[in-house]
Amino acid sequence: MKDLDIKLKYDWYERSVQNPESEVDFMRLWFKKIHGRFPTTLREDFCGTGAISCDWARRTSESQAFAVDLDPEPIAEGKSRHLSKLTPKARQRVKFLEANVLDKRDFKVDVVCAFNFSYFIFKNRSTLLEYFKTVRDGMGKQGMFFLDLFGGPESQKIVTDTKKLKGLTYYWECQSFNPINSECTFAIHFRDAKGKKHENVFTYEWRLWTIVELRELLSEAGFSRSMVFWEGDDDEGGGNGEFLPSEIGENCDAWVAYIAALV
Ligand SMILES: C[S@@+](CC[C@H](N)C(=O)[O-])C[C@H]1O[C@@H](n2cnc3c(N)ncnc32)[C@H](O)[C@@H]1O
Repeated sequence: MKDLDIKLKYDWYERSVQNPESEVDFMRLWFKKIHGRFPTTLREDFCGTGAISCDWARRTSESQAFAVDLDPEPIAEGKSRHLSKLTPKARQRVKFLEANVLDKRDFKVDVVCAFNFSYFIFKNRSTLLEYFKTVRDGMGKQGMFFLDLFGGPESQKIVTDTKKLKGLTYYWECQSFNPINSECTFAIHFRDAKGKKHENVFTYEWRLWTIVELRELLSEAGFSRSMVFWEGDDDEGGGNGEFLPSEIGENCDAWVAYIAALV
């Protein structure tokens, strides 16, 4: 997007799609429920601006985060948007790594997360399995791996969802879906306060994986079990933002869920 300032692009993205505090709360809470202690180390794969890592590091003096992304652009933005706002001590507990998530790491962590569906970039089974094995190998004995996904018949239709924010409209467009191989393209557009539309600010070429496929692959990668977190109902046909473990999901038109895989 040549005409859109890089700072604005990430500001709009984060305002529209991210909620790092609630995701850090969610991971800390469920790790504690399962293991009886709070986790200390996080690896945020596909970190983008590393908003989750920076929020993680500020929680306690023991909290340490590694934020991994291939692209130097969001990393540079993350350093100025988030890292710079931490105390000097907390700042030292965050390490950005410009690297491929498929590379083996020489350190182990309590928690790995891959959010905003980023691993959908791996379109074949063997590559996704390789990624899950790399995650498994990079965790301590009590490791937990959190990932999110979306689905439901509506998510495979060529439609655009719109969300109005203060001085900004966010558009999430499904541009194609191939039912034969589940490959799809999605795009994020914005309309600014002056009414100007910025098209294709972020674009994604993905495979839409299903929960059952992911759980089978996680098991094959060596995780001992996986939990699915399904969203509760707001009694008005929408979700209430509260995700709880479940083995039965309501067959909604569109849903977002989390999976936690345990070492
Ligand atoms: C959809 S964005 C997600 C950003 C952030 N996790 C979030 O929740 O909004 C996907 C990010 O993954 C990065 N990425 C794609 N393939 C990667 C790979 N193999 N290794 C590391 N980062 C990768 C991209 O550069 C991009 O910043």
